[in-house]
Amino acid sequence: MNNILLEHTDHVAVVTVNRPSQLNALNSETIAELSKVLDELAGNDDVRAIVLTGSGEKAFVAGADIKEFADFSQEEGRRLSAEGHKMLFNKLEKMPKPVIAAINGYALGGGLELAMSAHIRLASDNAMLGLPEVSLGVIPGYGGTQRLTRLVGMGKALEMICTAGMTSAADAKSWGLVNNVTTQEELMPAAMKMAGKMAKQSPSAITQALIAVRAGMAHDQDGFTAEINAFGECFGTEDFKEGTTAFLNKRKPSFTGK
Ligand code: CAA
Repeated sequence: MNNILLEHTDHVAVVTVNRPSQLNALNSETIAELSKVLDELAGNDDVRAIVLTGSGEKAFVAGADIKEFADFSQEEGRRLSAEGHKMLFNKLEKMPKPVIAAINGYALGGGLELAMSAHIRLASDNAMLGLPEVSLGVIPGYGGTQRLTRLVGMGKALEMICTAGMTSAADAKSWGLVNNVTTQEELMPAAMKMAGKMAKQSPSAITQALIAVRAGMAHDQDGFTAEINAFGECFGTEDFKEGTTAFLNKRKPSFTGK
């Protein structure tokens, strides 16, 4: 892989977008590599939580690569968006294990869309978040019009989208767009600490929780029905037997994800 770094310790994988000279902008090669890494991590039972970040101190990801699409036709634009949704952004949202975006600097356009496709966002205090696409004559095309609206509501989403402005990490926190803000030095330790806590829980139960929560956001599903089904699924797992037995025997559980 040319643009992605992958590390893996103690059930937590760290995925770093590594094109710092281009502020980690998502060119087609980077999107394809991220897509492949997500497939690998989804199928790797040893990985229980994922932290996604950007290389360097300046940017998480500064957007889709403008240099690649500047001369695209309408049809090429449509395809760029559709393939991005399928290959990366929807795939990330549907990951069966929790993904924490550690936003270490600019998260703009496709970069904020990437962070919003993750399940949880933490940001460093220098981070700037925005969807500046209308300043380029396009709109957010990697799910931003939908996911930003779900996260912050229509009024704030349209303010961010239509002004093309950047929001500070502190404001993003007050809007619910990021869960917490730290210094840049503390960002990865905080993300790893949260991921480590998740990695100690039942992986199979976490997968079911992700399915149930996501269903509530989908227009074609009933979240309560999804929760009932996901709850029932848990009762067929070894993790459920281990978790309840450990509690009753006053010991710590040791989960396998089965
Ligand atoms: N695409 C391609 N290259 C990018 C880029 C992007 N989104 N963002 C930054 N870069 C490149 C710059 O072109 C520059 O490369 P060169 O040295 O080869 O010229 C390098 O990264 C460093 O960037 P700057 O010199 O611009 O750095 P700066 O500190 O002066 O400015 C910035 C930082 C404000 C983030 C500025 O780079 C910027 O505005 N970037 C573009 C942000 C943007 O508009 N993102 C949305 C993209 S469109 C999109 O994402 C569509 C979609 O939804 C599908």
